[in-house]
Amino acid sequence: MARILLGVSGGIAAYKALELVRLATAAGHALRVIQTPASRRFVGAASFAALSGAPVLSDEFERDPARGAFPGDAAPGHDPLSHLELVRNTDIFLVAPASANTLAKLAAGLADNLLTTCALAATCPLLVAPAMNDKMWAHPATQANVVLLRSRGVTVLEPATGRLASRGEEGAGRLPEPGALLEAIEALTRPPVPAPAADLVGLRVLVTAGGTREPIDAVRFVGNRSSGRMGFALAAEAAELGAAVTVVAANVGLPRDPRVTYVDVETAAQLRDACCAAFESTDVLLMAAAVADFRPARSFAGKLKKGADERMRIELERTPDILSGLAAARRADQTLVGFAAEHGAGALQYGREKLARKRLDAVVVNDVSRTDIGFDAADNEVTILTAAGTTQIARASKPQIARAVLDVVVALRAAAAAGAPEPAA
Ligand code: PMT
Repeated sequence: MARILLGVSGGIAAYKALELVRLATAAGHALRVIQTPASRRFVGAASFAALSGAPVLSDEFERDPARGAFPGDAAPGHDPLSHLELVRNTDIFLVAPASANTLAKLAAGLADNLLTTCALAATCPLLVAPAMNDKMWAHPATQANVVLLRSRGVTVLEPATGRLASRGEEGAGRLPEPGALLEAIEALTRPPVPAPAADLVGLRVLVTAGGTREPIDAVRFVGNRSSGRMGFALAAEAAELGAAVTVVAANVGLPRDPRVTYVDVETAAQLRDACCAAFESTDVLLMAAAVADFRPARSFAGKLKKGADERMRIELERTPDILSGLAAARRADQTLVGFAAEHGAGALQYGREKLARKRLDAVVVNDVSRTDIGFDAADNEVTILTAAGTTQIARASKPQIARAVLDVVVALRAAAAAGAPEPAA
């Protein structure tokens, strides 16, 4: 059970925050809600109060009838300052929806309402879920605010893409669904599991995660459906096993692991540069990112106009094969693991071909023709190919799959250290 302070700012997506309160209380969490004055124009305090079972505050000078206590907790004997007491008692502060205006205030460190004042006073994890019009989200000022907040350790979720509030408009800017918000809260508040055997102690592990985006113009790109879950699970499990982990994250909006170092990139070229910079000091490379094989040969600085033509041609050019490039420069003491996103029949054969052609120690094959595993799914089902054998891992959560991949890495390194061929699985 977590104590969750929910800050609601002004936007049409404020109605989704009601469903989050319902889901979170049903899951056993205790919530207090604070609202910006603008958010009350979209959803009233009475709805939040009814669902959370606690008073809702909006003004930093307002007296809190619950004196900063969460449902189920005893109120203190004195009358504390509401914003200080609320943030002192909470395990996590979620701002959802975070409007462009509130996001900018958080980045600038303003304290001009109860929500922003609480954010400044909070020492707990801060989770921000932006929701706004796609053009406001894409604006360089908003993007700079996101980068600044992330650099301070704030978890800023990527907004979902789809239909927006303004009629007929589509794009990136939707508040993630309440279930996804609850998932993010629980990931950040889960108590740490006691440390198991630390098989990767002293090793530096480089993981790539997510999907690259290759710009067509200032607002459009060629991309793919990778969420980054597989890569982030590998990173978390490697950190659990004692490794020093760096993740090169391509457009991943998932919560960050405080034990891991992140380098954020967008394009295949940036991903390659980040990997090349870290490769020399890497012991284990886990290449889970879905890297674009092709990118627009030319990207336009502004937004392409529709014009009168019914068709538009975009010429694509090959991107460099990053993994093959790294493998060509590898040392014998490094362990290189590639992933193979294969579609339907022949997957293992293509995987074996990648193992040999890219000079890798292992290839993790997943069938991306299925919707219950692979891209953007919570689970995966993989076959791990090495020179000595094949390990089949039945459908399991991505953290469990990650652990199985790392077990193979540990076995490969043990066999290499002993000068023996790696044992067949
Ligand atoms: O992120 P999730 O939603 O959790 O989904 C996980 C996943 C399905 C993306 C992941 O499990 C996966 O399969 N990643 C590899 C996707 C991919 O690009 O596969 P590929 O068969 O096209 O490439 C083979 C390998 O070469 C990969 O390790 C890839 O990172 C690498 N590659 C590919 C192209 C390129 N230009 N450079 C590369 O280094």
